[in-house]
Amino acid sequence: MALTLSALNLGKVYQGQPVLNDFSYRFEAGGAYAVMGPNGSGKSTLLRILALLEPPDTGVVQYLAGSVILPPGLDLRRRLALLLPNVGVFNTTVFNNVAYGLKVRGVPWEEVEVRVRRALEAVGLCHKERQRAVTLSSGETKRLGLARVLVIAPEVLLLDEPTASLDPANMELVEDIILRVKDQRKTTLIVATHDHAQVERWAGGRRLYLDRGKLLTG
Ligand SMILES: Nc1ncnc2c1ncn2[C@@H]1O[C@H](COP(=O)(O)OP(=O)(O)O)[C@@H](O)[C@H]1O
Ligand SMILES: [Mg+2]
Repeated sequence: MALTLSALNLGKVYQGQPVLNDFSYRFEAGGAYAVMGPNGSGKSTLLRILALLEPPDTGVVQYLAGSVILPPGLDLRRRLALLLPNVGVFNTTVFNNVAYGLKVRGVPWEEVEVRVRRALEAVGLCHKERQRAVTLSSGETKRLGLARVLVIAPEVLLLDEPTASLDPANMELVEDIILRVKDQRKTTLIVATHDHAQVERWAGGRRLYLDRGKLLTG
């Protein structure tokens, strides 16, 4: 079940510099949203705070299932996923990298196998499942990162510039995968990107524009 995410008056200051400034927005369950803005405007900071990886200095992030406010904590965090712009891989096989998130969630092994294979197939990496992840090309690494977040079927998925520095073929593959996630509407999708065509495809033009940490349009 996709979750609603409500951000209220979020503020963040790094070394005396405000990076997020009174950010408020309600992301509806199953909706798809694009976060835009120049480098340094606070997009990644916002995504980390929304993903509960970092606390804001002011304001609150609230997750709701229907009208029920979910208590913050590990249980909630395990229902969310954030794909970072630079995917860090574990020094093990491609398969194990994707399986990790399911293992820590206590998913039974037979189910892990099925879900990992399905995720690897979705990103076109089935034939690489035994390869060590550190030996993948950068495009494959990015797709592995996507498989790792998709496999856990997150109820909120945050993607930080998922197609940055990909070649056209990889970009198309990743764009199609994200479009499928969006169309299923089982996940609330929030994507930081600079690409206006992606905003149209993924978020139907629903864009949030950050300028020096301030939300300009909602
Ligand atoms: N952990 C941190 N410590 C200090 N400054 C940071 C930290 N994270 C981000 N910043 C600063 O916050 C500003 C916004 O960064 P970021 O959220 O990454 O922007 P964007 O993703 O839009 O490029 C930048 O000036 C960046 O240097
Ligand atoms: Mg960023």
